[in-house]
Amino acid sequence: MPSATPTLPITIVTAPLHAVDADLLVIPWFEGDALGRFSDLDRATGSEVSRALAAREFAAKPFELFVTPIVDRAWNARRVALVGAGRESAFDGGLARKLATVAAFAARQRRIGSLAFVLRPGLPDPSGDIDVAGLLQSLSEGLTLAEFDGASYKSGEAALGAPPRLSIVKSDLIDASPESAPRLEGAVARGRLLGECSNLARQLANEPGNTLTPREFAARAGAIVSEGGAAVEILDEHQIAALNMGLLLGVARGSSEPPRLMVFRHNPPGAPANGPVLGLVGKGITFDTGGISIKPADGMERMKDDMAGGAAVACAMRAIAKLGAPIRVVGVVPSTENMPGGRAIKPGDILKSAEGKTVEVINTDAEGRLILGDGLWYARQLGATHLVDVATLTGAIVVALGKWTTGVFGTPDWWVEQVRRVGDRAGDRMWPLPVDPDYFDQLKSEIADFTNTGGRPGGAITAALFLKEFTGGLPWAHLDIAGTAWAEEARPYLPKGPSGVAVRTLTELAFTSDTWK
Ligand code: BES
Ligand code: MN
Ligand code: ZN
Repeated sequence: MPSATPTLPITIVTAPLHAVDADLLVIPWFEGDALGRFSDLDRATGSEVSRALAAREFAAKPFELFVTPIVDRAWNARRVALVGAGRESAFDGGLARKLATVAAFAARQRRIGSLAFVLRPGLPDPSGDIDVAGLLQSLSEGLTLAEFDGASYKSGEAALGAPPRLSIVKSDLIDASPESAPRLEGAVARGRLLGECSNLARQLANEPGNTLTPREFAARAGAIVSEGGAAVEILDEHQIAALNMGLLLGVARGSSEPPRLMVFRHNPPGAPANGPVLGLVGKGITFDTGGISIKPADGMERMKDDMAGGAAVACAMRAIAKLGAPIRVVGVVPSTENMPGGRAIKPGDILKSAEGKTVEVINTDAEGRLILGDGLWYARQLGATHLVDVATLTGAIVVALGKWTTGVFGTPDWWVEQVRRVGDRAGDRMWPLPVDPDYFDQLKSEIADFTNTGGRPGGAITAALFLKEFTGGLPWAHLDIAGTAWAEEARPYLPKGPSGVAVRTLTELAFTSDTWK
C-alpha cells in the first residue's frame, strides 16, 4: 500500500462566473440571501434558483443542497449547487471547512468530474475574524477531507465516485482581495496538505487490527513521516527493553506481536540550540481487547482505532516537516496490542516505568496511560520542552463531553489554552477539564507508587493525573480523543468512521512558538 497517493493541487481560478469551466459550480448561500449579484446566475439556470428560493424548496439551512443545470449555453459550467450556509452572522472558518466537504461529497455522489467552489460576498467577510488566506485554507482542507475512502476493503462498485478536480473561484461576485496571489496559493496548498495528512491518519485508524499490527503500524507511519522529510527511528522490543520501559513491555506481554516505539524528529537547520522543542506523544494500541480485564464483546471491534492518537502524531509530523515548522519537534508513539494471554499482565501486578516509578495494575484495560507514561518520559529524554499527548484514553471522556468535543487537560493554564485556541481554528473543538492534585488520592496504592485506575468518578481526570506523573513538570497538554476520533453516526461533513482529529491542531501548534512562554 502506498503511504500517500499523490493528489492534484487545488487551483485558484480568477474569472467571471460565466467563464468558469466546471461540471459543478458550488455557491454557498445564506438564509434570506437576496438574488442581488446572482441575478445573472439565476437567468443562466432558467430562473430555477429564484423559483426554488421562492417556493422554499431550498431554505439555505446549513448543509442543505440544491443542484440544478445551467441552461445558458454562453456559460461554461454545467451545473450549479447552492449549499446552505445558514445565517450570515454565524458564519466562520469552521463552517466554511464543513461546507466545502459537503459540496465535494455531493460531487462524488453524482460522479462529477470537476468542482469549482465560488467565493462570494460575506465569504470572505471583510470585517470577520478570518482573513482571505485563512478562509482559503479552511476551504481547501474541507474539500480535501471529502477524499477519504473508508470502504477500502469493499470489492463491489464504490458508493462514491472518484474525487473531482478542485478549484476555488475568485469571480466578479467579490471585490479584488488585498492579499497577494502567492500568499493565497500558499494558503490553499497548506490546507490541501493538512487535509491529506488528516486523511492519512484516518486511513491508519480505519485499518483493522489483523493488518495493522504494531510492526505494520510502525512501518507505515515511518514511511509517512520519512516521505515528509522528518527523521524516523523504530525501536524494537529489545531496544525498548534496554530503555527499561516496563510499562510498555508490561502491556505488550499478553500479545504474540512484539511492541514498537516510533520516534520522529523534525530538526530545522535554523532552529536555535536552546529554543523550544515540541514533544508530541500518541497512544498506539493497535487493538485493545482490555487484556485480562477483558472488554465485553459488544462494540469491541471499534477498538481497532485505539491507535488514532499515534496516527495523529505521525501524520502531523509529516505535515510539520513538509511545511517546514520553525522549531524542533519530536514525536513518540509507543505501540502494542492489549491482549489476554498466558503471559499477560494480571490485576495486582506491579510494573516499573523507565523513569523508575512503580505502578500497581488494578485494571489491565487502563493500558493507554501505561504506555504513554513511558512515551512521555522518552519525549523528555529527547529534549522536549513542551509536551502534548493525544490518546483515545477513556470511556469517561465520552460520558463527560460526548462525541463532539475533545477533552483537554494539562498544566499550566496558558499552555492548555494555547492548544485549545489553536484547535478551535483547526476544526478540533476542545474543552478543558481539571487536573487538581486532590483527585490523585484515587490512585493511591498500598504497595506501589500509585495504581493505574481511580475508579468511576472523574475517570478521565484520574487518567490525566496518571499521565501528569510522567511529564517532569514541563508544560503539558493531554487530549483525550476517545469521543472524537470516530464518528458513530454519519454527519453531512463526516461519514461514519475515523475523523482524523488532532492532526491539524498538532501541526499548526508547531507554528505558534513565538507566543509561548
Ligand atoms: N481505549 C479505551 C478507551 C476508549 C473507550 C476509547 C471507548 C474509545 C471508546 C481505554 O484503553 C480503556 O479501556 N479505558 C478504560 C479505563 C478504565 C478501565 C479505568 C475505560 O475507559 O473504561
Ligand atoms: Mn483499554
Ligand atoms: Zn485503550
